[in-house]
Amino acid sequence: SDSLRALAAQQGLRIGTAVDMGQLGTNKLYTDTVAGQFSVVTPENVMKWDAVEPTRGTYDWKPADQLVQFAEQHGQSVRGHTLMWHNQLPSWLTTGVADGSIGDSELRDILHQHITAEVSHFRGEIWQWDVVNEVFANSWDSATSDGLNSNDFWIQHLGEGIVADAFRWAHQADPKALLMYNDYNIAGQDGTNAKFQAVYNFVKGLRAQGVPIDGIGEQGHLDTQYGFDAQRFQADLQAYGALGLKVAVTEADVRTFVNNATDQVPTSQLAQFAQPYEFSEMLKGCELVRQCISFTAWGVYDGDSWIPGTFGGEGYGLLYDVNLQPKAAYVALQQDLALA
Ligand code: G3I
Repeated sequence: SDSLRALAAQQGLRIGTAVDMGQLGTNKLYTDTVAGQFSVVTPENVMKWDAVEPTRGTYDWKPADQLVQFAEQHGQSVRGHTLMWHNQLPSWLTTGVADGSIGDSELRDILHQHITAEVSHFRGEIWQWDVVNEVFANSWDSATSDGLNSNDFWIQHLGEGIVADAFRWAHQADPKALLMYNDYNIAGQDGTNAKFQAVYNFVKGLRAQGVPIDGIGEQGHLDTQYGFDAQRFQADLQAYGALGLKVAVTEADVRTFVNNATDQVPTSQLAQFAQPYEFSEMLKGCELVRQCISFTAWGVYDGDSWIPGTFGGEGYGLLYDVNLQPKAAYVALQQDLALA
């Protein structure tokens, strides 16, 4: 078969997608595409804290369990996403912190409890967990001396040591899962590449202290209007790998400006070449680095992507178009996998 998953299997790589549980099982073509083309799935939203514990102490695992079951039925692995992140927190938690009814020491216990409950619930069923997500500073954030974002919700309330503790707690709850740090713009950036350097130094330190971190997820959210340095992307993945870490591309998409939100057709002809090129270079970076274990796109098709809602006027980020037909970027990945 020339499906992405079959071609990737020949080189021991898993190829994945983020899955929207609002579509899986209800949209037939979507469901068949997820099953047929991908060998690893990430829940786009349903394992996030607001989804699993909407009311304090009351868990809702149902949609996440459904995805895990789907994956089992289709010979797919699961990337768990995500345990400690500043977004999509339940409102009982953010409200409690804001009004002072939840103090920092209780917050720490609540996070510990959350990680233990969720990782235990899925124990043995998750291949890679995104334990900590997006705590490093960008050029526009205020950074601590080691590059952590000092305004991040978790760092601000619980201090830098919380990152190591999150990994320790996850490891206690499922010693066999691969535990990842996941972030964007941490490989292949133009300019100083400061965020890569900060993450690299920090995880090197965690490893030296024996913190149970197994890998790095570079999200891979690209935009055709910014530069992308393919050689540096590969070199950065390689550098993480040389620390004894696994690496994964976890949320790949390549957005660009579109004529209108419905059609999701690029305004620029050039983007129709830039997109397959950038997808392909990210995949090749992963293929060329021995420690890279999976390559995941952040969604299936342009009719269902986070991009238009976040970046006004942009879209066209994924491998399939609004009608769930494969795009040039799909063919590019297929060729890369077939030729490798
Ligand atoms: O579930 C509610 C629903 O109850 C409500 O009626 C509806 C109305 O707005 O919103 C629904 O929640 C939305 C949720 O997706 C589920 O559909 C949120 O508004 C929306 O903001 C949320 O967006 C997600 C975003 O993370 C939020 O942070 C995107 O789907 C998801 O693709 C995106 O994914 C993140 C990764 O987790 C981490 N890396 C960056 C990436 C892109 O932002």
